[in-house]
Order: sequence, then structure tokens, then C-alpha cells
Amino acid sequence: MTLSDNKRQAVDKLLIEIASVFDAEGRPGGNVAAARLRDAANRPFSTAEAQEYPRGLLQRACALDTAVDWAGLVLETAPCLHWENWQGSGLSDNVSSSLYTTELLGPDGHIRDDEVRVGLLVSEAHTDYPLSRHSGEETYFAIAGEAEWVLGKAPYRRVPPGSMIHHPAWEMHGRRTLDEPFLGAWRWSGDLDLKSFEIAPA
Ligand SMILES: [Fe+2]
Repeated sequence: MTLSDNKRQAVDKLLIEIASVFDAEGRPGGNVAAARLRDAANRPFSTAEAQEYPRGLLQRACALDTAVDWAGLVLETAPCLHWENWQGSGLSDNVSSSLYTTELLGPDGHIRDDEVRVGLLVSEAHTDYPLSRHSGEETYFAIAGEAEWVLGKAPYRRVPPGSMIHHPAWEMHGRRTLDEPFLGAWRWSGDLDLKSFEIAPA
């Protein structure tokens, strides 16, 4: 199914906003992601006919005063996107049922790309996403919601919306939300193999 012109315009606007974010990151992976996102505006977008999506959770995240000014584009495009809980990835049911993610661009994305994965993730408040690692080098951009993030053996640190969080390939990292939900854009660069995902032993 193809998108209406209005929806496709909203998707393209969202891709361009995310491209600007990753361009400003100053890392080679960010530059590649930005270039692929800008190019994606000219490529086909595939979507299923009816999508279940976390409407209430996204609305609560985007309504936060500190959300970035283009957060509304996520709400506008969300019904056209395929959202999943990463069930079967090894996350507990408690955690996986508290978050939803979608791949906008990538090998499994709405727009096919073999160089990067770029997507969105939204999480309920009070969700402790465990330490995990993977082959892809990763950067998150916080669109809405302040959360606590950890990399390696460093202590958790609070990160406000508008910030970037970088995870080198294979470094253990985690995120726990506080009283607010969290909405972010993420990119994976380098080795994009999802099967590399590992949760730290308890
Ligand atoms: Fe990660």
C-alpha cells in the first residue's frame, strides 16, 4: 500500500528533521545516516493497510513541555508505521510490553536501505531497559522525555530532550525512564545484524 500525498509529505519532513539531528552529531555514522535519510525522500515507502500503534503513549510523550518542536510529526506519521515490542529478543515481557519501536529506514524498514537502520522508539515511564549490546554503533536522539542512560561501567546520567546519546559497537548500555515516557530517534550504523543483540547476564 502506498501513502497519501499528505502522509508521505509528513514522513519526508520527519526524515529530514532526523537527518538534521544526525548530521549535527559529528560522527561518520551520523553523516551516513543523514545522507541516506535525505535520499530516502525519493524512494518507495511500503506500509501495511491497517496498523495498530501506541497512540496514547505517543500523545503523552509528545505533549511534554520539553519535547522538541517537531515531535508532532511523529504523531502525524505514527498510524502509517509498523510498531513492535521486540518480543522474542530476550527482553522480559514487562519491558517489551512497555515499549514500541519502528524502523523507518533500513533492511527491515518502511524504506529499504542496506547501509543504516533508522527508527523511533517510545517507552512508558518507569521502564528499566536492561544493559545490552549489539554489533551496530548506535546513537539515540531524545525527542521527548527525560530519561537516565548508562554506558559501560559509568553511573546512570539524566539526559534531557534535544540530546544525543552515543553507544559504540558492542558497548553495554541501558536506559531507564523516570516519571515521564520517552520518545527517541535512533540510528544503527556499521554491522546491522539484529541477531547480535545480547542482554547482559543478571
Ligand atoms: Fe542499543
